[in-house]
Amino acid sequence: MSGLGIDLGTANTVVGTPEDGIVLNEPSFMLVRTKEPHRALAIGQEARSLVGRTPIGITQVRPMRAGVIVDLESAKAFVSAVIKQASPYGHFGRRPTAVISVPEGATPLERRALLEVGHEAGLRKVGLIPEPVAGAVGCGINPMEPRAHLVVNIGGGTSEVTAVCFGGVISHRSCRIAGDELTTALHHYLREEHQIIVGDLTAERAKMGTPDTEEGQSVVVEGLDAVTGRARLLSLDVDEIVEALRPTTASIVQTLTSCLEDLPPQAIGDVMSEGVLAIGGGSMLRGLSQLLEDAFGLPVKTAERPLTCVAEGATACLAHPEVVAAYSNN
Ligand SMILES: Nc1ncnc2c1ncn2[C@@H]1O[C@H](COP(=O)(O)OP(=O)(O)OP(=O)(O)O)[C@@H](O)[C@H]1O
Ligand SMILES: [Mg+2]
Repeated sequence: MSGLGIDLGTANTVVGTPEDGIVLNEPSFMLVRTKEPHRALAIGQEARSLVGRTPIGITQVRPMRAGVIVDLESAKAFVSAVIKQASPYGHFGRRPTAVISVPEGATPLERRALLEVGHEAGLRKVGLIPEPVAGAVGCGINPMEPRAHLVVNIGGGTSEVTAVCFGGVISHRSCRIAGDELTTALHHYLREEHQIIVGDLTAERAKMGTPDTEEGQSVVVEGLDAVTGRARLLSLDVDEIVEALRPTTASIVQTLTSCLEDLPPQAIGDVMSEGVLAIGGGSMLRGLSQLLEDAFGLPVKTAERPLTCVAEGATACLAHPEVVAAYSNN
């Protein structure tokens, strides 16, 4: 079984193959010439590194918003470049098939747009799988068993919670507040409270903290003083960052917990013994899984690989068309 498992995210695009595992993991950014907006000059990390420093005549494009396609032509150019990079010419011999993940909350029109983009970008056969289902599969869960699983996905553009069981969805909630909104909130906080204007990449780095930042430690951000306009460094306590993000995380958590209202008691019993599965980059935010546990009253387990499990699951589904078929009927 060959083909591509694709997670086209608002923040990151991840592609896997059954033979080689994850073969591409890049930010969902594209650079184009302003006069030629539908031909990719660069994609991924290279394109993203120009955030806040794009030269005249070049435009930076983010083809996905809230997990769905913003502009068909840009998305086509982006997906073609992704496919080319993930499966260099000759690797497959012919046009590859693919399973692409899509937010559970995507509309039929948004799903159709994704199918069209996939075909026009050079894919032979495209199946769509809801992101939480792909994520669950990527974490070793069988979404066809007669047992409820609750998956929370906090990505760059969307936060979703979905209860799945026996090839179908029991309940679902989503909001368009997620990782990117948290970065923006920190950006505003730094300007309001510390009078420092930082770039988006700096704000995101501060939000994520360095991997080994312990509680009580601090991160240093560089930016421009909002009053004098001069370059300035600021040392920020990680606890202060958590507090600054509290209003935004609270609204995400509130949307997610409202999903419990629709869950029958039997399903709650399943989730209680097994725990809620948290996936997506936003689920790694310091303190978030504790907030979720407190709000759900259920144990929360963050996936081992929250950023790639959706693509891993989509790749695994290439060999399980019955899962794709079951969940495309929602
Ligand atoms: N260690 C971390 N702590 C906090 N946030 C993080 C961390 N690592 C990544 N993120 C955030 O996770 C988000 C990206 O997550 P992910 O790749 O799952 O999103 P996506 O799949 O592209 O988006 P979506 O599913 O909404 O379309 C970004 O906003 C990023 O800042
Ligand atoms: Mg995602």
